Order: sequence, then C-alpha cells, then structure tokens
Amino acid sequence: MNIILLGPPGAGKGTQASKLVSDRGMVQLSTGDMLRAAVKAGSPVGLKAKAVMDAGELVSDDIVSGIIGEALDALPIDTGVIFDGYPRTEAQALSLDGLLADRHRKLDHVIELEVDEDALVERITGRFTCAKCGAGYHDTFLTPKVDGVCDSCGSTEFKRRPDDNEETVRTRMAEYRGKTAPILPIYEARGLVSRVDGMASMEAVSAAINAILGT
Ligand code: AP5
Repeated sequence: MNIILLGPPGAGKGTQASKLVSDRGMVQLSTGDMLRAAVKAGSPVGLKAKAVMDAGELVSDDIVSGIIGEALDALPIDTGVIFDGYPRTEAQALSLDGLLADRHRKLDHVIELEVDEDALVERITGRFTCAKCGAGYHDTFLTPKVDGVCDSCGSTEFKRRPDDNEETVRTRMAEYRGKTAPILPIYEARGLVSRVDGMASMEAVSAAINAILGT
C-alpha cells in the first residue's frame, strides 16, 4: 500500500506516520527528515536546502523528487510506503506519478489531516525530539514520562528544529495554502482523498486513519 499524508505544518503527519510504521511495518518517507539529514551531513543537497528550510520556504521540486526516487529504489517493491510531506506542489505530484509508475507501484490513499491553523503554532512551537533516537514529544501534549528523560532510549538530550518558531511557521502555513492545498483536486478527481479531523486526540486520528486503510 502506498499512501500520502497531507496537511499543514504541525498537522500530525510525522506523528501518524511513525504510528503506521510501528503498527503496520510500512516505511515512512519524510522529505523533511531526509532534507534535515542532508543539512546535518553537509552534503551538496543539504547546503542548497538549509537557508530555504530555515526561511520556511519550499526546496526545489527537482531536489525533493530526486531524493524520493532514490529512497524508493532502495525499497523492496512490496514495502508499503507513507509519503510524509511529499508531494507539496503540482510539479511534485506529477513527478510522483512517474516515480510510482516506473517502479510498478500505485497510489492507494491520500489522507488529509484537517486542522485549525491557530492550534498549529502552539503544536509546533512546543515540539521537541530526543537528540539520540528522534522520538517526538511536546511541552503540553506529549511529555516524557520522567521529566527530562526520553521514554524510548533514556537519553537526557533533546533538541528543537530551527524552523519551529512562530514567524517561520506562518511562512510554512502560507506555502501550504498557496502551493500544497491546490494539489488536492488532482487526487480528488481520482477518488483517492479521505479527510480526517486532525484536531482530535492522537489516538482518535490514528483510529480514523486505520479505518480508511482497512486491515
Ligand atoms: P517538514 O519536516 O515536512 O515539516 P512540515 O510539513 O512543516 O510538517 P511538520 O514536521 O512540522 O509537522 P507534522 O505534520 O509532521 O506534525 P507532527 O506530527 O510533528 O518540512 C520542513 C521543511 O523542509 C519545509 O518547510 C521545506 O522547507 C522543506 N521540505 C520538506 N519537504 C519538502 C517538499 N516536498 N518540497 C519542498 N520542500 C520541502 O506534530 C507536531 C506536534 O504536535 C508534535 O509535537 C506532536 O506531538 C503534536 N501533535 C501531533 N498530533 C497531535 C494531536 N492529534 N493532538 C495534539 N498534539 C498533536
């Protein structure tokens, strides 16, 4: 099964993708995570992407479609894939069609997480992750069981994303509204789009996604 999780910054795409990875053995392809890894490694892609990401704007279509193609090539054909944060423009949506067709894959579902934009700033500015294993937390909505200690690996080091500040979040939301939301009609015309209330609890969102995907 190949699915796209679509929604504005902080909608819960990464949270729900991680759940699908652990519950269903799918593979999460997050262009945001891949670009952050490239920035950290100081690779040519990372050097080009860093300033664009820090500003909350979109990295070029060629770069992101290139890294998605490489990631798909590394997977066995029968591995289920969650596209998290890709595609984000009409050009990327068209590229994905070609990337999937070339690899004899088809798109099964596009799930849009619908959220109230005012809540997103609070979600994003409160987000942090374990610096060692990457487990995600939130100052209010998902705190570690023991304050300052990662539930998953016991590390006491945490980090926050440089683009998780209010000003950049507003730019990221505008990019979503202007460039990403307009791709939904492409998938609606193919009958692939389902909508989920992203303002519900993480567990309720997960249950709604599972109901769409079936067993
Ligand atoms: P990316 O990393 O994709 O960021 P994003 O789309 O802005 O999404 P986020 O990761 O911020 O949010 P999310 O929906 O995953 O929310 P999360 O689950 O963490 O992209 C970053 C940058 O990379 C872009 O700005 C761009 O520059 C570049 N880029 C990436 N892909 C690109 C592409 N295809 N083309 C061009 N450029 C690209 O949840 C957020 C918080 O809320 C968490 O703390 C979580 O615990 C909490 N939370 C989640 N769900 C709930 C809930 N139901 N109730 C309460 N709290 C919740």
